[in-house]
Amino acid sequence: MTASEPAPPTPTTPTATDADAATLFAELTGREPDGVWSAPGRANLIGEHTDYNEGFVLPFAIPFRTVAAVGVRDDARIRVASTFAEDAVEVALDDLDDLFPTPAGTSPRVPEWAAYPLGVAWALRQAGASGPGVDIAIASDVPVGAGLSSSAAIEGAAASALNDLWSAGLDRVALARIGRRAENEAVGAPTGIMDQMASMLGEPDAAIFLDCRTLDAALVPVGVAEAGLAILVMDTRVKHAHSTGGYRERRASCEKGAEIMGVPSLRDVSVDDLPRAAELMDDVTFRRVRHIVTENQRVLDTVRVLREDGARAIGDLLVASHASMRDDFEISVPELDTAVDAALAAGALGARMTGGGFGGAAIALIEQDAVKSVSDAVAAAFAASGFEAPAVFTVTPAAGAHRDV
Ligand code: GLA
Repeated sequence: MTASEPAPPTPTTPTATDADAATLFAELTGREPDGVWSAPGRANLIGEHTDYNEGFVLPFAIPFRTVAAVGVRDDARIRVASTFAEDAVEVALDDLDDLFPTPAGTSPRVPEWAAYPLGVAWALRQAGASGPGVDIAIASDVPVGAGLSSSAAIEGAAASALNDLWSAGLDRVALARIGRRAENEAVGAPTGIMDQMASMLGEPDAAIFLDCRTLDAALVPVGVAEAGLAILVMDTRVKHAHSTGGYRERRASCEKGAEIMGVPSLRDVSVDDLPRAAELMDDVTFRRVRHIVTENQRVLDTVRVLREDGARAIGDLLVASHASMRDDFEISVPELDTAVDAALAAGALGARMTGGGFGGAAIALIEQDAVKSVSDAVAAAFAASGFEAPAVFTVTPAAGAHRDV
């Protein structure tokens, strides 16, 4: 499949989160929504911080979703409400241009959660879409701050809804770009496009092999269940945010490394170039570069191994990816290392932190019948280190954004 093909229709059964969003919509407006749209969070199998370096990633959508119940208004205002905030936020559509873009280094002029859906409406209008005012009620079961892209899920649900209600006719890749623009320019987080693409393009049982330079995407069957395996998520509950601090610094180091190597982005540096890179740059920049270059190679290797030998054979690549993030890119935290080490010691075939780092979650590839033993081992290791208990659960690759009702 290429990313520009239309989405295959995905049959859905309304969920509890659909009902929460519809109930909130009814409380807000006194009527039924015109429709209900949803988009999932994601986990990344491998390929971290490679997206904004125009490299490769291999994420998959997870079965936790953000739902937007939406109705058209008879004026030109947009109102957003969510089950995770007390107050709704309402503005005139024309005033979105006064709110966004958010000046670099400042916080959005609206509460941060509202900057996601309002930013999507703004980005769609910037892209030429137009339509009537809307009320949007949002509910979600994607864990927040866990590195599972609760933000891309809000963007995907809002973008899908407005694309339909405003008859914008954008395809899924274009909607992913809209979501990323909202994230970068309305929320002010300098992220890449992996999360939005995963949320828009996810399919059951498949990971999305994405070339972040061309945005070509191919579905790669993960075959975890067929191999008798499961994917465990270990949410450390250490909250992270990508609008500040470390994420931005890592991006800057990557740009510096590319400049020193004389290439547009680190995508253009290969493993064979690393000895030359070591001579040209300071140790910290070199290690940042080495992570990106070797991680790109690991994504390519993982796709090949998955296709040739199946999920059982990718464990060592996951372990090497984590070591690279811990030692070279330095985006892990003790809780993530503890989760990974405990899972491996309890028999996981592979484990690595997933997402932007500095907190959030790790994943482990484990035997199906080891869910309890590995979960218990991770919980015990956290208790022994005096960390807050982690949230541990399994995920399977799931469907991307769609209209639910
Ligand atoms: C966050 C960002 C993504 C990506 C990952 C790291 O999830 O939103 O764009 O950079 O971190 O791989």
